[in-house]
Amino acid sequence: MPSGLARGTLEAAVDVPTKATCGLALTLGLGGCAWDAPMSTVAARSDLARDILHVYSIITWITVGIALVVGVGLAWVLVRFRDRPDAPRMPAQTRGHTLLEISWTIAPAIVLLVIAIPTIQVIFRTQAAPTRDALEVRVLGHQWWWEFRYPTLEVVTANEMHVPAGRAVALTLDGPDVIHSFWVPMLGGKRDVVPGRLNRLTFTAETPGEYRGQCAEFCGASHANMGMRVVVDAPDAFARWVAAQKAEPVEPAAGPAADGKAIFARSACVGCHTIRGVSSGALGPDLTTFGSRHTLAAGILPVTVETVAAWVKDPSALKPDAKMPALGLTDEQARAVATYLIGLK
Ligand code: CUA
Repeated sequence: MPSGLARGTLEAAVDVPTKATCGLALTLGLGGCAWDAPMSTVAARSDLARDILHVYSIITWITVGIALVVGVGLAWVLVRFRDRPDAPRMPAQTRGHTLLEISWTIAPAIVLLVIAIPTIQVIFRTQAAPTRDALEVRVLGHQWWWEFRYPTLEVVTANEMHVPAGRAVALTLDGPDVIHSFWVPMLGGKRDVVPGRLNRLTFTAETPGEYRGQCAEFCGASHANMGMRVVVDAPDAFARWVAAQKAEPVEPAAGPAADGKAIFARSACVGCHTIRGVSSGALGPDLTTFGSRHTLAAGILPVTVETVAAWVKDPSALKPDAKMPALGLTDEQARAVATYLIGLK
């Protein structure tokens, strides 16, 4: 046992940095909390998200109730049986109490049952077959981007999925390489994307807006850079988006855009990317309507001539381990390709 003086000195030495660290950790931790953050799990904007939030609320309120009961009980015991000068050295001991033992066996079982019933109901509801009028979307998780195929609409896009508000959307998830996980928190829970297995996820988005999502299963060096956007459109805006996606790409006017098209058409680009009427590669995202997207490289950068040119010059510099190789283009060539791609709307 250290002397009083030595212990005091030790505490003083440890105290300040420990308090500062705890304070910093708390500030950073709470700084990440916001009810309306872009990926909030407590701001439900679809029937699926609402169902999950309902279960979450039940569990939260039950555990808050249990914490209160335990806390109050503990406080009462601490006060009631505190050490007093007139108290006996050893209070009366109880060994074996059938009623108490039965109670604390049954009580947790009842709590688990109360949590299990709505949980199982929601699990079954989220696994139900989609309605016949649901919009089908095939979701493919790739290292490290998302592909969205609309078989009934003959539309293919990447990283930004548009869906109409108020209509059920039936996702079928699959992928060609490793396991990913599709997660757009405000529209519902995670669903794994497993190569060789078709997983399903159905939801009806309620409110038009842009919702952020993220791959939620570690899938390699750029897992953290595998974001996505789900754009929920009003039905007429969705119809306009579909029409724009199906339109033939316009021929670029002479100048940088036309030069960019020529560079694209004679480069390795055509081996991996489809641009309708120009190329039919299938390894990378379909770029036919690239200019209609707001973000680049699975949501990590805004689409501007500068960002697209930087990406085309050296993808791995922006996204570690990107599968797209650097094409050895000059700055001018990269800007021309970027101008051409952004013009594809
Ligand atoms: Cu894909 Cu993590």
